[in-house]
Amino acid sequence: MILWYSGCGNSRFVADTLSKELGDSNMIFIPDAARQGTALEFGPDDVLGIVFPVYSWSVPKLVSEFLRTACIKGKPAYIFAACTCGDETGLTIKHLKKDLAKQGLTLDAFFSFQMPETYVNLPGFKLDTPENAERKISATKESLEETVKLIQQRAKGNFDRLKGGSSFLKSNILKPLFYGLLITDRKFTVSDDCIGCGICAKNCPLQNITMQNDRPHWNGHCTNCMSCYHRCPKNAINFGKSSIGKGQYYFKSENLKVE
Ligand SMILES: Cc1cc2nc3c(=O)[nH]c(=O)nc-3n(C[C@H](O)[C@H](O)[C@H](O)COP(=O)(O)O)c2cc1C
Ligand code: SF4
Ligand code: SF4
Repeated sequence: MILWYSGCGNSRFVADTLSKELGDSNMIFIPDAARQGTALEFGPDDVLGIVFPVYSWSVPKLVSEFLRTACIKGKPAYIFAACTCGDETGLTIKHLKKDLAKQGLTLDAFFSFQMPETYVNLPGFKLDTPENAERKISATKESLEETVKLIQQRAKGNFDRLKGGSSFLKSNILKPLFYGLLITDRKFTVSDDCIGCGICAKNCPLQNITMQNDRPHWNGHCTNCMSCYHRCPKNAINFGKSSIGKGQYYFKSENLKVE
């Protein structure tokens, strides 16, 4: 079973690739499972993979909450996690281990992949150049091949090479400030370029957008994944003034829910 979450498709690409290469088609989208209260059942030989993007040098809150509270029956024989990040993971592995420990589960292997940046909500935070984005995707494709082999061998350990510096400060001090002060949908605006296509609403992983008079309306339970901003075909959505002129990116794949 592969539990996955992705806002802009980077982690979806990693989850899809692992699913295909490992021959495990049981993919569960964490926001759907959280909404539906899906119970997770494991036999003694089962493998569990968890795939998600790094948010604020940690596990996204919605993933943590799901892992801590889901109804889990049985124990997988092997648990691996793969995260994607723009730059650094900080103490993501430590936080994930704590989440799993709440359920009496132990993480066996942890992998990280640099993928194109998606966060544009603060001054100074911008997207990668197209060349950089391409370089990151190529490097991830390459290291996924090695990762698949390691998972098949049931390798154990921390294979994260992207921890970065000042990780305690970033993951433990800045993260609560980030969630308390910066994660909001009150700053989203929509310009007159909007054509009412509804792509933003259809792709919101948290179903936080409803269409009202052919315009998106944000309903207050956003995680700032930035899917709505990046996927808008008219670039009509902005996050205050911070995102203006920064461009758009999402991982394009024929497997994504809606293009
Ligand atoms: C809210 C938010 C917080 C982020 N925080 C970090 C971070 O702490 N470190 C980092 O390297 N990248 C960070 N990023 C970048 C994403 O982790 C990265 O682009 C990831 O591949 C996005 O995955 P997705 O396309 O599956 O949503 C953040 C992105 C968002 C939207
Ligand atoms: S995706 Fe863009 S154009 Fe389409 S409804 Fe949303 S804001 Fe409007
Ligand atoms: S409203 Fe936009 S940023 Fe917030 S969770 Fe939905 S798609 Fe992501």
